[in-house]
Amino acid sequence: MAVNLGAGEKPTALEVMQDAPVIPVIVLHDVAQAVPLARALVAGGIRMLEVTLRTKVALACIEKIAREVPQAVVGAGTVRSPADVQAAAMAGARFAVSPGYTHAIGKACHELALALLPGVATGSEILAAQEDGYGELKFFPAMQAGGPAMLKAWHGPFGDVKFCPTGGVTPGNAAEFLALPNVACVGGSWLTPADAMAQGDWARITQLAAEAARLPRA
Ligand code: 3PG
Repeated sequence: MAVNLGAGEKPTALEVMQDAPVIPVIVLHDVAQAVPLARALVAGGIRMLEVTLRTKVALACIEKIAREVPQAVVGAGTVRSPADVQAAAMAGARFAVSPGYTHAIGKACHELALALLPGVATGSEILAAQEDGYGELKFFPAMQAGGPAMLKAWHGPFGDVKFCPTGGVTPGNAAEFLALPNVACVGGSWLTPADAMAQGDWARITQLAAEAARLPRA
C-alpha cells in the first residue's frame, strides 16, 4: 500500500517498508544513471530506493535523485558509521539501511530523525536494536542466515518486530518471505541487473519493478 508523503517529507521506517513489497538495493557507478534509473523504478511502482554507499558516486547519486525525481524517496544503504549517516542525510537521503547495528548508528539516525532499518542476523542484535527504539529491521543476509525458517522461529519471541529480509532474495523465493506475518517487505538487487544497467535498458527495469510491485504480501 503506497504511503502518503508530502514533498520532501521523511517516512517512518514502517512507511519505508509498507510502500511496496520490494526495496531495490542499488549500486551505482555512474552519476548519469541515477536519474533515469530512479524514474524507471518509479514508473514501475517502486519509489523507496536504497542507494548503497558502496561507490564513490553514491552520495552524488542520492543528491541527484533527491533533487530531480520528487516522486522517488531515496535512502542510503550500506550505512556503516555515524559519518555515513550524516553524509547520507546531507545528500538528501530520507531513510537509512545498515548491514548491521551499532548504538552509534542508531543514535546518529535518532538525532537526525532519519528512519533506520538496521541489519540483524541474531537475537542479540534484535535486542540491541530494540533497546534503542528500532523495531523495523532488515534481516541480513537473509538466505545465508537461515531464510524463511529463521523468520518463523523469530516470530515467537520477537512477534512485535517487522522484518525486511535482504540478501539472496529473488523473484523465485520472494513470495515465500512475503507470506510470513513478520515480513513487511523484502530487499534485493534483482530489479537492477548488471546487463540492463550497462545497456541503460530502463524499460526492462520498469518491467521488473512492476512485477515486484505486484507481489502479494501477507
Ligand atoms: C546486498 O547487500 O547486496 C543486498 O543484500 C542485496 O543482496 P542480493 O544481491 O542477494 O539481492
